[in-house]
Amino acid sequence: MAQFQVNQKKFTAGRIVDTPAAAEIQIGDDEIVVKIDRFAYTSNNVTYAVAGDMIGYWKFFPAVADQSEGMGVIPVWGFADVVRSNVADVPVGDRLFGYFPPATHLVMRPTAVAAHRLVDGSTHRSALPAGYNLYRRVAAEPGYDQAMDNSRMLLWPLHMTSFCLWDALQDKSWYGAERVIILSASSKTSLGLAYALHADPEAPKVVGVTSARNADMVIATGLYEETVTYDQLDQLDATTDTVIVDMSGNAEVLKSLYTSLGDHMKYCINVGITHWGNAGGKDEMLSQRSEFFFAPSHMQRRMKEWGSAGFQEKTGDFLKNSAATTSKWLSYQIIDGLDGLAAIHEDVCHGKIAADVGLIVQM
Ligand SMILES: NC(=O)c1ccc[n+]([C@@H]2O[C@H](COP(=O)([O-])OP(=O)(O)OC[C@H]3O[C@@H](n4cnc5c(N)ncnc54)[C@H](OP(=O)(O)O)[C@@H]3O)[C@@H](O)[C@H]2O)c1
Repeated sequence: MAQFQVNQKKFTAGRIVDTPAAAEIQIGDDEIVVKIDRFAYTSNNVTYAVAGDMIGYWKFFPAVADQSEGMGVIPVWGFADVVRSNVADVPVGDRLFGYFPPATHLVMRPTAVAAHRLVDGSTHRSALPAGYNLYRRVAAEPGYDQAMDNSRMLLWPLHMTSFCLWDALQDKSWYGAERVIILSASSKTSLGLAYALHADPEAPKVVGVTSARNADMVIATGLYEETVTYDQLDQLDATTDTVIVDMSGNAEVLKSLYTSLGDHMKYCINVGITHWGNAGGKDEMLSQRSEFFFAPSHMQRRMKEWGSAGFQEKTGDFLKNSAATTSKWLSYQIIDGLDGLAAIHEDVCHGKIAADVGLIVQM
């Protein structure tokens, strides 16, 4: 059995280590062992490594085996099946959707077990953002269709974020802006937001900024009213009141944009760091008019306000429709196990995967 680990300081370098066989893993009276079946891999996972210390992503799944000092495990979204269980309510054969390590197996301690969900109550996870500890028991979902697993694990975490961003922008009346500029426009999270804005007649104009190699793909989706590349920022009208949604974290691009916009830059929402190699600190102007957006916190707030059922209702249709729109341009590339992941991990880190491809690691 095995686990894929990266060097926390130089996370483009990874290795596979051996771990005990499922039957040999010691588990407590309140624990289960799941076998990870498949998971998605995108820039979002790379960002978990970039922000590993800041948000605590390294703490979810500790690196095991010898010489694990300085090594970390990048969390992934996927599906797993229960193969051993000491918990009567969570029998062998149960299938879970949620946050897993890129590994063959995981030991979990189910708590708050309900028909459709459970929480991993393992002690080392208790102080981490709650949304990541929640798992769906998919076999109990009415109409659960395994054929939709790839779409769900790839798009759910990203498009849920897109929904939250759309909701947050509406909540603030678009910060008074007449235009939303989305940076790293080819990312799936950006395209999910562009879909939401495009479909909303009340939303301001939406402009995408991307790299030259992804421009054709971004334009072909038809979700942005205008698309420019990073070296064409001077083509954007600098007198339009604008809110920036930044998935890139590219300090140079941001600075160039808000310098030319001046007071027309109403607000900047910092969401991602796809361009982690060009990330940088904020200067005073940006600090005063920007915020870091953390989707799990927004979800928690809305679940409290809308209730769990209200939240499901509001997000359910959106996620279904955004996935249907995405299926028009997205193709899946199946990666063969942890060896396949180790071979492609560096390319994912360096943004070398075509923007219209979704990587699925099949264990
Ligand atoms: N704050 C939150 O709660 C939250 C939640 C979900 C996602 N996010 C963030 O949103 C971002 C997008 O995630 P995703 O999974 O949707 O991305 P994705 O679909 O994998 O996006 C790939 C795109 O990102 C850019 N890119 C990736 N690596 C790059 C590199 N090394 N150098 C330059 N460009 C690179 C390229 O876009 P361009 O050419 O268009 O720049 C590329 O087409 C991530 O940073 C993720 O963590 C944040």
